[in-house]
Amino acid sequence: MTQISLHTLLDLTFQDASLHSIILSHPSKKEKKGISKVTIRPLIIKNKKFFQASLQKGAQVFHENIEFEFIKEKIENWLMILREGHFYLSESTYLLWKRKDGTIIISQKGSEKKILKLQHNRTKNYLFQEGVPYPFFIALKVMDAKGRVLADKRDKFKQVNRFLEVFLDSLKEINLDKDKPIKIVDLGCGKAYLTFALYHYLSEILHLDVAMTGIDLKEEVITLLNQISRDCGYQKLIFKTGSIKEYPLERIDIVIALHACNIATDHALAKAVNAQAKMILAAPCCQHELLNQVDSSTLSPLLKHGILKERFAALLTDACRATLLDCVGYKTQILEFIDAGSTPKNLLIKAIKRAHDQDHLQNREQYAQLKKSFQISPTLEKLLHLNL
Ligand SMILES: C[S@@+](CC[C@H](N)C(=O)[O-])C[C@H]1O[C@@H](n2cnc3c(N)ncnc32)[C@H](O)[C@@H]1O
Repeated sequence: MTQISLHTLLDLTFQDASLHSIILSHPSKKEKKGISKVTIRPLIIKNKKFFQASLQKGAQVFHENIEFEFIKEKIENWLMILREGHFYLSESTYLLWKRKDGTIIISQKGSEKKILKLQHNRTKNYLFQEGVPYPFFIALKVMDAKGRVLADKRDKFKQVNRFLEVFLDSLKEINLDKDKPIKIVDLGCGKAYLTFALYHYLSEILHLDVAMTGIDLKEEVITLLNQISRDCGYQKLIFKTGSIKEYPLERIDIVIALHACNIATDHALAKAVNAQAKMILAAPCCQHELLNQVDSSTLSPLLKHGILKERFAALLTDACRATLLDCVGYKTQILEFIDAGSTPKNLLIKAIKRAHDQDHLQNREQYAQLKKSFQISPTLEKLLHLNL
């Protein structure tokens, strides 16, 4: 083991472009509401380098984004109260231990590449980290009080992280009004794992002004979600009972509708278009609508098999939805949301409103052709009052 000073360690840490994370823990005084752990990770916001610190105080976690020039000073301050540090760099890990007399012992561990890889695998570089007890994840029973993901919620945790990644990437493609809150609605929010995660990340971690509403049919669930939102101190996250079809959606920035069954997705897409949403993210499920409509003599060898017909009808539904969104001024893509092994409901329709309508005629012709070829009459076309 090699010994180095704290100054050298900090210089080394922040020279290293591939710093993975720093974990400071083991408070010298166990105070109920004092800081017991700090996790630091590099973060880029609008092309500027920051460090995101997650501070655990009692059962709560607070986030701070720290500019590069202040990070060393912050770490030195935290080390006044925390006695242990793990500095995970790309090639090695340093362990720091502060003795009771204040002396700091730092050592480099040997085969740390392996440890770092394990650490990578464990956290998978997720935006939400396992081991950090986010209050909303605890309330939704995704994590326990120590931030451990519960076994039956591991897939959900993965899905939430993946959705957040796609959301943040997509957010770069739209222009938002800097002086107004970003208005987001989640249609068919269910238990709102994704709604909470999105709100928490945007408002508590990125410090964006976000006003978010989740809508669902289930009154009991909505009451509970509003309670959790209040308990977490989320001032602009509310939930309302109602059906997507009846919900009076006014001008909005972003609409999400994840796994709203069958034609509830079409109602969500139509609402979003009418409210001039700049971005729509919808993960369809239970696309049954066209199953009894689709007909094609050319494809009869495929359509005569029930399971193939079902899958084909589902894909055709989403192809129609994407083309219809293209027809009404969106640039639409279909993405794989999470790997197919986790859930078969893994497609995401991503639609970004174009500044100028393009390929208007071509999209309409393509849609009309699709409709004629399979003798179908999709709900979304009617809801958008298109007659193609
Ligand atoms: C499969 S859950 C998905 C929940 C959540 N969006 C997610 O992806 O984790 C579908 C939710 O949509 C809601 N839902 C279905 N049809 C709806 C409608 N027409 N209006 C409002 N909510 C609806 C259901 O009550 C249910 O909670």
